[in-house]
Formats: sequence, C-alpha cells, structure tokens
Amino acid sequence: MKRILLWAFIALHLSCKTTIQELPATHLKEGRGVTAKNAMVVSAREEASKIGLEVLKSGGNAFDAMVATEMALAVVYPFAGNLGGGGFMVYRMADGETGALDYREKAPLRAHRDMYLDENGEVVPERSRLGGLAVGVPGTVAGIFATHEKFGSKPMKDLLAPVIALAEKGFAVSDNQARNFEHYRDLFLEVNIDTILFARQHQSGDTIKNPALANTLELLAEGGKEVFYEGQVAKQLIDFLQSHGSIITLEDLAAYEAKWREPISVKYKDYTVLSMSPPSSGGIVLSQILKMVEPYPLRKFGHNSLRSIQVLTEAEKRAYADRSHFLGDPDFVEIPTSFLTSVEYLHNRMKSFSFDKATPSVEISHGNIPGYESMETTHYSIVDQYGNAVSVTTTLNGAYGSKLYAEELGFFLNNEMDDFSAKPGVPNMFGLIGAEANAIEPQKRMLSSMTPTIVEKDGELFMVLGSPGGSTIITSVLQTILNVTEYGLTMQQAVNVARFHHQWLPDEIVFEPDSFDPELLEELRAKGYELNERNSRILGKVDAILKLDNGWLEGGADHRGDDTAVGF
Ligand code: GLY
Repeated sequence: MKRILLWAFIALHLSCKTTIQELPATHLKEGRGVTAKNAMVVSAREEASKIGLEVLKSGGNAFDAMVATEMALAVVYPFAGNLGGGGFMVYRMADGETGALDYREKAPLRAHRDMYLDENGEVVPERSRLGGLAVGVPGTVAGIFATHEKFGSKPMKDLLAPVIALAEKGFAVSDNQARNFEHYRDLFLEVNIDTILFARQHQSGDTIKNPALANTLELLAEGGKEVFYEGQVAKQLIDFLQSHGSIITLEDLAAYEAKWREPISVKYKDYTVLSMSPPSSGGIVLSQILKMVEPYPLRKFGHNSLRSIQVLTEAEKRAYADRSHFLGDPDFVEIPTSFLTSVEYLHNRMKSFSFDKATPSVEISHGNIPGYESMETTHYSIVDQYGNAVSVTTTLNGAYGSKLYAEELGFFLNNEMDDFSAKPGVPNMFGLIGAEANAIEPQKRMLSSMTPTIVEKDGELFMVLGSPGGSTIITSVLQTILNVTEYGLTMQQAVNVARFHHQWLPDEIVFEPDSFDPELLEELRAKGYELNERNSRILGKVDAILKLDNGWLEGGADHRGDDTAVGF
C-alpha cells in the first residue's frame, strides 16, 4: 500500500519543466528529471535558471553564474530573491577544494537584546517581523561581489547586463505569484506608507517591469559594491529605512562585510557531506542527524516507512534541541562543533530511543509549544562545464521579508532580525526556540537554518542541493540526500516525494498533508507521536543536481513551486 502511494505520488508529480539533452538509453531510469551532459542550473524560476545557464554557455564558470542567477531571482522572484537580504554559499571546485561564503545579515549597531520586548518584558512579535525595525543589515550585494572578486572570470557588467534587461523588459507573473501578491497585499499596504509596485493588481500572465531595480543594478555594475554600502544607493536606502522606523545607519552599511568560512564536513557511509557552518545551524544539525541515523538499516526499513520515520524523527528532535541551546554567531559565541558532531556523543544521544514508543521532547530538554509558518527563502544549485559546483541559499526571511519595499530602489528589505532569539524560550516565526547563544547583540549575525549542501561520493562530486523553508530546510535536505543514497530514487523523485519534519519543539511530526498512508499515521499515533498535517502545506522546496555514474547531470526541480532545471 505504502509503495503504491509513493509511486502514484511520483507519477503525478513528474511534470517539472524538462530536458535539454537526452540521456543515453543506458542511463534512462523511470522518473529521471532534466538531464544534461555539461552543466546545469536549477532555481526557483525559469528566467533565473536560464540567465545562469547562458553565462555558463558563454564560457563563464559556476561563480559567474551564481552572481547572475542571484540577481535574476531578485527581479523575478521578489518573494525571496533579493538585494535587501542575505545568504550562504557552499562551493566545491573541480580539483576538490571546498569553501563557504557567509553573507548573512547583521544586527545594526544600535540593536540591543531587549529591542522586541514591551514594557512588561513580553515579546511583541510584529516588531521583529514587519517594517523597519525588523530589518537586518543586508549582505547579498557584499556576497555577490565577494564571490566575483575571488572566483569570477567575466566582468560584473557582462553578468548584470541580462539581469538589467530582464528588469526593464519585465517577467510574466505565474499562478503561484499572482496568489502570493494577493495574499500579502494588505500587509504591503500596512507596512509601506505609499502603495508599492507589488501591491498593484497583478493577474497570472501579466508582465511586471521593475525599472527602479534595473537602475539600481546599473549603479552596481558601474560603481561596484561601494555604491550599495557607502555611495548613492546607501544614502537613499538609509533615508528610506529611517523614515520607516529602522535603526540602521550609514555606519552599519559601511561596516558590513561578507565572510569566507569553512564548511562543516561529515562522513556518512561512502559519502562526504559538506554544508554551511555557523552562523547557519544547517551544517551542524544535518551532520548530527546523519551520524545518529547511520547505524540504522534505513534502506531495509523502506522509504517513509514506520521505522524510517521513527528513526529520523527521534534524531531530528535531539539535534534541534542542541541547535536551540548551543548555536549562534561564531564571531560572538563559542560553539563546541567537534563535540556536537562526534560519533560518541551522537550515538549516546540515541540510546534513549526505542521503537516501542516516542521519546517526549520534554525528556530530551525543555520548552514551550509554538506554531509554524513555511516556505520563505530560496535555493539554487549550479554545476558548470569545468566541474565546479555552487550551492546557494538566499533569503529575506519571511515572504517578501519585512514587507518594506524601497520603491525608488526596486527591492524588498529582509525581516531577518526575527531569526534572533528575542527572549530565551520564546519561539520565533518558525517556532524555533533560542537561548543565550542567539541573543541580539550589535553587529551579530542571527542564527540560520539555511543548508546549502554539496555531497561527494568516493571523493568526487555527487550531489548539490538545498531548500527554503525556515526550520524545515535542514530536514528537507536530509530526506533528499537519503532518498537518493538509501532509497535509490532519482534526483527528481527524491525532490518530489512527500516529506515530514520534527524540530524538537513543538513536540509533533509535521507531514505534508494527504501524502502519507493513513494506516501509517495511525501506527505512529499509537506509539505516542503527536502528528500535524494541518499547519504546513508543503515542507521545503528543494532544487538539486545529481551527478550520474556516466558523468551526466540530473536536475531535481521541486514541483511544489515554479522551479526549473536547465542544462546543456
Ligand atoms: N531566515 C531563515 C533562516 O535563515 O533560517
């Protein structure tokens, strides 16, 4: 029954935009996604994937394509693509060299730990989620320039030219976008003093042009990163932010810099998984879960079987409990990374687990029961024709960030300040509970769950992946890796199949609705698990690339959105 449901689900959802080149017959496997021989880009929008691919076709490398794709997403996917947010990149060069870039937003110099509390010391959630006070110092522009400076092979002007043309010519509104604009219109109007471009009535199929963003990109192409952090754009941005209640100053912008970091690396069976280090929790939490589940025969248990779900859920609870306590910005707090990712510690953590009954989260640690929201942020994966790979997740935090839109500059501002712990034990918008390590301090980076990841097999590039989804990012990435490595799915199937999620608190497993066998859910309830099929429409939106054993690439573009894989 479970198998039938799985394959029915896969068959239903293989409609993602398709193949550029045909895979040789010997490597055809039912359910493969887009395949290509040389290079591939998978992102949340076809226009962005294509702009990245054109850069590769004209001889550019994966890092050039990253710059163009990131900026194209800011044009066609304002939901999460951005100039006013931040992100993380993990890369692997063709020769095996690896690294990571942190262009996460920072707390302003005038920020303080109690800035979201009222006179009674209670958190006022709207303050960290909507409008000027929610905005962290943006890092994306610093991120693309740092990437370009270190690895770029083409002039920035050439990379930005097609993006500027796209902003001028406009993009077609998709069904998903039309629904989203409608859904958020009231908030756009509440937060912005005037109406904004995206609060106008946009039907599916309409064209949206953004000449203001085209102009901002022109200024960047001409004047470089300084224009954004010290020059004309900086001044305009600060005037705008301060008139909307932000405490960010010119000094904050001038002090911002992206940071090169070491990725977190973990061995899982024949694979090496490289993912983002703090200030993202993604790499550490993913490593912890993989090491906790490694001793269990998941393949034998079967995909989304009772035992597989139990093992993953119990490992997730324990890892998210550690996240809450230990993790924060490494420039401000000591993180015991080696301890947290050691096999001895992690195997000990699983000793309290039994297949007979759920371990209550209160017995793992303590906390309160909050709610969920889902589906912000965006991820894209690129492999170039030279063998380099980049895995990038970028975000405004909530959908359209703080909803604050700089009309004259053409972009939304983040509400990343909500990723701090406003008060120990009080959940943020993803229901995540933080502690001292993630308290607000001036210039500190807020803890993230973004998990841009690259997997090697036997020392060679194997998979590139990541996802949006706040706290559900890590478990979406985890399940996608296991779907290929343990359960033998193609990349496209691994991305498509239904997902579930546990994050320690609230003590419940969230399932994508109507995707799991009701008998299986009953069996889990009988073992003491709280289940939630209501709160989350979808979990994650993974965009991934798999290197097949003949060297070809298979894209997995998530059918949950407008995501598209293209290659040549
Ligand atoms: N803003 C979502 C995250 O960084 O985890």
